[in-house]
Amino acid sequence: MNLYKRSSEILARNRNFIPGGVVSVNRATYPEIVFVKGQGAFIWDADGNRYHDYHAAFAPHFLGHNDPYVTEAAIRVLRDGASLFGSGTTLLEGRLAELICRHVPSAESVQFLNSGSEATFQAIRLARAVTGREHIIVMQGGYNGWHNDVSCNLMTPLDQLGPRVSPGEYPYVPISAGVPAAHRQLVHPVNFNDLESVKYVCEKYSIAALITEPVLQNIGVIKPLPGYLRGLRALADRFGFVLIFDEVKTGFRHALGGYSSISGVMPDLVVFGKALANGYPIAGLGGKRELMQWFVHPDPSKRVLLAGTYNAHPVPTAAAIATIERLLMNDGEVYRHVESLGHHIQTGLERMIPRMGLKAVVAREGSAFCLYFMDHCPVDWHDLATHHDFGLDEMMRKRLVEGGVYFFPHPAKQCSISFAHTQGDIQYTLERIEMSLIQGKIGMCRSESRHSA
Ligand SMILES: Cc1ncc(COP(=O)(O)O)c(C=O)c1O
Repeated sequence: MNLYKRSSEILARNRNFIPGGVVSVNRATYPEIVFVKGQGAFIWDADGNRYHDYHAAFAPHFLGHNDPYVTEAAIRVLRDGASLFGSGTTLLEGRLAELICRHVPSAESVQFLNSGSEATFQAIRLARAVTGREHIIVMQGGYNGWHNDVSCNLMTPLDQLGPRVSPGEYPYVPISAGVPAAHRQLVHPVNFNDLESVKYVCEKYSIAALITEPVLQNIGVIKPLPGYLRGLRALADRFGFVLIFDEVKTGFRHALGGYSSISGVMPDLVVFGKALANGYPIAGLGGKRELMQWFVHPDPSKRVLLAGTYNAHPVPTAAAIATIERLLMNDGEVYRHVESLGHHIQTGLERMIPRMGLKAVVAREGSAFCLYFMDHCPVDWHDLATHHDFGLDEMMRKRLVEGGVYFFPHPAKQCSISFAHTQGDIQYTLERIEMSLIQGKIGMCRSESRHSA
């Protein structure tokens, strides 16, 4: 039986008008499913199949899909006659900025853009303007958006990357065609959790900025080792580069104050997106006031251009305000709930691993988790790429999707729990994971015996 008949028809039709049939190429995956509805912890496809959702559209839906409080705020702002005026400030953007500056210690002042990529672009440009330098450091295995400086070195195959380098840097391996060669010379990818490599690069080049997710969450969940973020702060102070925390995935999901408030390490600039507005398109760039003031520098030759027709559009701005209000309610209720769900899935998986005789570990930060099929939590991409069983991971995810639990069906991608999930959902998910792995093992044995026959 074809579970995805209607999805296939829609995709075939869209292929006539959209290259590949899908907008945003990272959404193209197998099985090819067209989703039509999301509510709370669930999504539904065009064929009427329902899924427990742990993809959360690459993580923004921290409260769950169509959270009633946020949806109502978005509807209300339109009903009240708000529009995009494109001249002067607005009450809404002031209210959102004030909320962020009050609750996020790393943001003394803040600007708004439409996407995480726009915000990381502006953060890097600002760092170059302030320091008068051009080179930047990025993390192998980090993702910071689609623009030339950062569209590189994500899940780079080891045959392109070569052996592990430390201290040192990896070659710039683009994840997009069209990046000018000259541009690539300015970008230096290093291992996450590797202070010696940052020092090495700083001694060789004049570094404007280092940008990193404080927890690498585009290759699962790779946490900073004790002292790593503090070490980055010390190197930034020593070598004079701007430390940028890309909190597009960690911000608001792990704490209202961002991961910097958990780690106690303050970057110079910080970028937010995703969970900030629970799925509506808005991003924030904040940081030290003296740096942010360069957007309005009195000397026009030093002023950094920050402009955008849709910046702080009233609908996503109202959604972001409502999201923060929701996160503030009942003394941190949202964070307590997702932490207890995260603990439930982690302990459930950790009991399952020896029972099934698996080589696997669970990496988790609050509501974000990843099951790695290797004997230790990876410390960086090279470690992960060397040791993780990608085949088993992909097989498990595909079987989960068939069984109605949506883990993004690509190995080593983060799973995101939302406030809308329940303990019952987690228990069901654990059962489905176990079943998927059992079915997978049986499938593998069958194919092995077929091969040997
Ligand atoms: C850590 C991080 N930074 C930046 C981005 C880019 O954000 P956007 O897709 O909104 O441009 C992403 C997107 O996944 C991300 O995960």
